Amino acid sequence: MEFSIDHLGIAVKSLTAAKSIYEKLGLSVSPEETVEHEKVRLVMVPVGESRLELLEATSDDSAIARFIARHGEGLHHICMRVPDLAAAVAKLQSDGVRLVSNEIKTGAGGHRYIFVHPKSTAGVLLELVESGH
Ligand code: CO
Repeated sequence: MEFSIDHLGIAVKSLTAAKSIYEKLGLSVSPEETVEHEKVRLVMVPVGESRLELLEATSDDSAIARFIARHGEGLHHICMRVPDLAAAVAKLQSDGVRLVSNEIKTGAGGHRYIFVHPKSTAGVLLELVESGH
């Protein structure tokens, strides 16, 4: 598998409100899914070979709630599929790249992921997931 853009993560106040624009465009929206340890509820909107991930906070202390408090709703992160996630993480760590957490976690759809800190990516919160799942 190659590198590709898996999804764009968008922080929203209300999933119901945010997904309606995509439904009006005729796109199909996934059922809601909750990721407890991230304190978010989300839907995925497939767009061609990529997806939009709409993220609503389930708690005031979730990263999405803090993001919206600081910046308002909007683009939160970009997610790239990589051929070998563990190898990518090991390489980044050995090169001194700052990660949000050093532990690979399991998120929506059972995907394993990690976030690279915006300080190491010219200001973009970059999520990496493994391709081929
Ligand atoms: Co994401």
